[in-house]
Amino acid sequence: MCGIVAYIGGQNATPIIVNGLKKLEYRGYDSAGVAVLQNGKIEVRRDAGKIARLEALIAEQPLSGSIGIGHTRWATHGAPNQQNAHPHLSSNGEIVIVHNGIVENYLSLRDELLAEGAVFHSETDTETIVFLIERYFAVTQDLAKAVQLTMKRVKGAHGIVVMSAKEPDKLLAARLGNAGGVAIGRGNGEMFIASDLPAIVEHTREITFLENGQMAVVTRQGVSIQTLDGQKVPAQIQHIPWDPVSAEKGNYRHFMQKEIHEQVRSLSDTMIGRIDFDDYRITLPDLRLDAAGARGIKRIFITACGTALHAGLVGKIIIEHLTRIPVEVMVASEFRYIDPIVDSDTVVLAISQSGETADTLAAMEEGRRKGAKLWSIVNAIGSQAMRSADGAIAMQVGPEIGVASTKAFTAPLVDLYMLAVYLADLRGNINPAKRFELIRDLLMVPTLAGKTLEHEPEVEKAAAKYKDMRSVLYLGRGINMPIAYEGALKLKEISYIHAEGYPAGEMKHGPIALIDQDLPVVVIAPKDAWYEKMISQVEQAKARGGKVIAVATEGDALIPTLVDEVLWVPPVPWLLSPILTSIPLQLFAYHIATQLGLDVDQPRNLAKSVTVE
Ligand code: M6R
Repeated sequence: MCGIVAYIGGQNATPIIVNGLKKLEYRGYDSAGVAVLQNGKIEVRRDAGKIARLEALIAEQPLSGSIGIGHTRWATHGAPNQQNAHPHLSSNGEIVIVHNGIVENYLSLRDELLAEGAVFHSETDTETIVFLIERYFAVTQDLAKAVQLTMKRVKGAHGIVVMSAKEPDKLLAARLGNAGGVAIGRGNGEMFIASDLPAIVEHTREITFLENGQMAVVTRQGVSIQTLDGQKVPAQIQHIPWDPVSAEKGNYRHFMQKEIHEQVRSLSDTMIGRIDFDDYRITLPDLRLDAAGARGIKRIFITACGTALHAGLVGKIIIEHLTRIPVEVMVASEFRYIDPIVDSDTVVLAISQSGETADTLAAMEEGRRKGAKLWSIVNAIGSQAMRSADGAIAMQVGPEIGVASTKAFTAPLVDLYMLAVYLADLRGNINPAKRFELIRDLLMVPTLAGKTLEHEPEVEKAAAKYKDMRSVLYLGRGINMPIAYEGALKLKEISYIHAEGYPAGEMKHGPIALIDQDLPVVVIAPKDAWYEKMISQVEQAKARGGKVIAVATEGDALIPTLVDEVLWVPPVPWLLSPILTSIPLQLFAYHIATQLGLDVDQPRNLAKSVTVE
């Protein structure tokens, strides 16, 4: 949720940290701050609001030094104001910390520290950590030991970076649990630390990721890793292949708009290296699966949150249709609390853009505990969900910055389709002719996504007509039922208009009571097996005076005669249709929010990577 950036080297740390924070502003954006060691003293600049406010503050009160730490905050304890903004100093001003996570036992720690005479200056839980480090440093005179002793006292999941005027040639970073990543990048005589790669990939692609329970001592010369018990661990370096330009907005007004348009490319990028064109086969080597392993799978549990969960709901239908393996889809935040039936013949498949969502990681841990095989479909390379799985499918779509997920929704739909074809092939559920047909259909999808995007001007006009609505009902059926959920989620998260997604057949069991001229209904009604049933829903809504917006297949002559607005998609085989039907709904939400003048990329109360439970 919060973003962390730190630097140690030969340059001025302040602009490097501030630029890195700008790349992480999508993670949390209610306040931000930087601390730099300037002439042997720790200087802090921090303020409520976005990074621009922090920059203005630094312009008034410049900061310069070759070692520093920075933070962009998503508030958990205490309002988003200047006092609660990170970094937080120790009482003597000699140690400073930035923190991502929640100190679950902070009330008791605070009482303990208050009893010792500590004076708290914020309402955050983070101050308890820096005060504990200060206390243990006073005894040990060793920053690394003080951090280790402190991490043993705090409950919950945390990523921290610590700097001290007493040990001015190093930064300490530690990770406990799943509060987001800690990535350490190597430069030439300089080192970078960040919670997320976009903050540092322009400087370095040689990255070491901290694992749960590890601490890093980072100097200008490099990094040494040890466990929180002091055991040395070799630092594994990974090369990150990202193009930093893909984290820039280019000519688009917003990252969300750019990422919607990027889908033509991202849908083919996610296929790269996975289709063997010699014999039209899907290959997913990173799953480390053979025919016997595929035949041994008795059940798949897909677990995820938000948009990723909706992708999973579509995936269930594709996988069950092609492989006949039973698939259950479970909200990750519930998975570990309901004792799901999971054993060694079960695959737990996590889907996550960030690969750091705390609930999803906890569901994976629960799957591991019960003996399941773990797979993940993840975008963020090197993230925890990718590292801790037995097999993974990388989305390969580059960083997604807009908080509302778009290209990281359609890419896993392709990945799930490829997974289904792959499993069906290994298990003997499909013959070569069917395999050829399925792959040929898939290869058309990026072009069809491009054709769908050509309808953007009509979607923008429809958005202008409906932008003042207070509430909207989205209805879908069959494989497009999850697209009703997804369309409603996109609209509510960026426009703040209430929206609900419903299986169309459920409308008559309650929501129909809401329909009148003030409640528009969005129906997802492509030409598929459920088309006629969707037309009945349209008739029922119209009979009650409702305005209807339909997502429909080009060439459908009937639907424009029945509804108020049509958002067109080209014809596509049904298993792939959610990839296309979701696109006009992304555009519809985007244009409504922009026409309302809202901050599309950083909607209120949200964060890109939800690293708290
Ligand atoms: O990083 P993840 O894919 O695990 O994130 C899951 C959800 O938090 C995320 O999809 C959220 O629902 C988005 N804001 C949706 O646009």
